[in-house]
Amino acid sequence: LKRVRTRHFQRAKENGIKITGLTSYDTLSAQIFDEAGIDFLLVGDSAGNTVFGYDTTLPVTIDELIPLTRAVARSVTRALVIADLPFGSYENGPDDALKSAIRFMKETGSHAVKLEGGERSYKQIKRIVNAGIPVMGHIGFTPQSEHGLGGHVIQGRGESADQLLADAKAVEKAGAFAVVLEMVPSEAAARVTAELSIPTISVGAGPHCDGQLMVWSDWAGFNRGRIPRFVKQYAQIGETILEAARAYKDDVERGEYPAPEHEYKE
Ligand code: KIV
Ligand code: NA
Repeated sequence: LKRVRTRHFQRAKENGIKITGLTSYDTLSAQIFDEAGIDFLLVGDSAGNTVFGYDTTLPVTIDELIPLTRAVARSVTRALVIADLPFGSYENGPDDALKSAIRFMKETGSHAVKLEGGERSYKQIKRIVNAGIPVMGHIGFTPQSEHGLGGHVIQGRGESADQLLADAKAVEKAGAFAVVLEMVPSEAAARVTAELSIPTISVGAGPHCDGQLMVWSDWAGFNRGRIPRFVKQYAQIGETILEAARAYKDDVERGEYPAPEHEYKE
C-alpha cells in the first residue's frame, strides 16, 4: 500500500473523494485504523483528556506527546501521521513554532504537524512550511483557547462567519496543506470549503467539508462520559470492556478462571 502524502489530500479535494481521519495515541489502535484504510491519524493533544486525565488540553506538553506520536508513527504503513503542537509550544512566535515542529519530526517519525489559529498563527505556519514540514491548520473552535472563547462555543455563526473565512484564507496563504474546522455551522463550513483550494477537515463542521475527523475514544464509545452532538458512535467498546472486566472478576472469584485449558502442565 502506498503511503498517503499531502499531495493525495489535494488530489482528493480536486476529485471529490472524501478524506477520513481519526485520532490515535498508541500502537494497537494505530495498527487497526491503518488496516481499515483511515487516511490520516492525528496524535492530538486531546490525549490530555483521553490518555492523561486532564480536564482540558492546556497542560499537555511536547514531552508527553512525543512517545505517543512515536508509537503511532511506528505502527502505520499507509496513514499520514500528524503531530499536534500543544499549547505553549508555538504561540510565542515562528522560531518557537519551528523548533517545536522540528522536535516532533526528528523524534517521532510523524509526517506533518497541526497547530491552532488562523490569522494569529499565519507567521508560525509559514515558517514551519518553509522548513519543509507540512502543516495542518485548525480554526473554528480551538480547544487550547477555550478560556478565551468562553467555553465550548460554536464558532462562525452569524457575522463571525467572515472572520472564519479570513482565518481559513490566512491558513491557506501561509502554505498549510489542509485545515480543520471545528464546531462550525455547516453553511459556514460549506462556504469556506468552496472558497479554499486546500481541503477542509470537519470536526463537527457538517457534511460539506472535504474530510472528517473524530476523536477515536468518542467515536468508538470508549469514552462513556458526555460526547458532543456531532459524534456518531460506531461502537460501544467502553460497555464491552466494562462487561468483560465484570465477567473476569466474577470468574476468578468463583474459581472458573483459569480453566484447565489455560494451565501449563509439567
Ligand atoms: O487534539 C485533537 O484531537 C484535535 C482534533 C479534535 C481536531 O485537535
Ligand atoms: Na488538538
